[in-house]
Amino acid sequence: MKKIMGVIGYPIKHSLSPQMHSAVYDKLKLSMAYHAFEVRPDQLEIAIQGVRGLGLQGVNVTIPHKVEVMNYLDEIDGLAKEIGAVNTIVNVNGRLKGYNTDGEGYLRSLLAAMKEELSSKSVLMIGAGGASKAVSLTLAKHGVKQIVIANRTLAKAQELQSSCSRFAASSAMTIEEAEQRLDEFDIIINTTSIGMLPEIDAIPISLQRLKKGAFVSDLIYTPVQTKFLREAEEMGAPTLNGVDMFVYQGALAFEHWTNIEAPIDTMRNVVLKHLKGEK
Ligand code: ATR
Repeated sequence: MKKIMGVIGYPIKHSLSPQMHSAVYDKLKLSMAYHAFEVRPDQLEIAIQGVRGLGLQGVNVTIPHKVEVMNYLDEIDGLAKEIGAVNTIVNVNGRLKGYNTDGEGYLRSLLAAMKEELSSKSVLMIGAGGASKAVSLTLAKHGVKQIVIANRTLAKAQELQSSCSRFAASSAMTIEEAEQRLDEFDIIINTTSIGMLPEIDAIPISLQRLKKGAFVSDLIYTPVQTKFLREAEEMGAPTLNGVDMFVYQGALAFEHWTNIEAPIDTMRNVVLKHLKGEK
């Protein structure tokens, strides 16, 4: 009997997770199937009961359920607790444990792209929402020289900074201040939706004062190359788009479910093919 896996979100029709995970099952000849489940917020609790009742082996959780779902699980991993959100559930004999692989997915993609240690790096995070929280806390725990959170709403940056300060030197500032002090940072990461389709002409921060050799990254992958990354590349900066964060968060989820190493290249190829519109 096939093991059934899936992703729960609302809306869900644009998710690339089914194609990405199905390609892995095909490649490794696993008797598993992955489905997208559209679950309205008022149906979330009953859907999670359904995961138990039907014996689904594991599910991913996406917008808007990542925080609320924590109320319906039996156990939550330490990092997911700190982040305050769950994107992966593992069903072990009816006990549901929640993990967050978003931050670690990003960290893996960054390490693979930079091929350098992060311990001497000053990091600027733009944005202080859910995605920023996952990445900021994971980077702070991994160990960076300092992490600075810049956000339109300063109070949210200050709140996230205070969580990060338990693990790494950190501070909060406005976007305007970060723009003025951009040459102090080695890694700049956009976690906001500024520049995402359809608003592709927007950029989250001016790169005018970018330090030579600084690394510029965007969590967005629609489009694959945002205007922000295009400008950085034109200035000669190494860049990283959001495709690999998505790929690695899925790879880590797969590894939680199966204990088998995920075929990253297969996953990336499927995602890129779909993003380019070739089905
Ligand atoms: P996600 O889960 O994708 O991180 P979120 O939790 O809603 O989404 O967070 C969105 C982030 O993008 C926030 O930091 C938000 O800034 P505010 O805290 O000031 O709302 C930021 N953001 C979104 N649209 C923005 C815009 N047009 N200008 C500046 N910041 C924006």
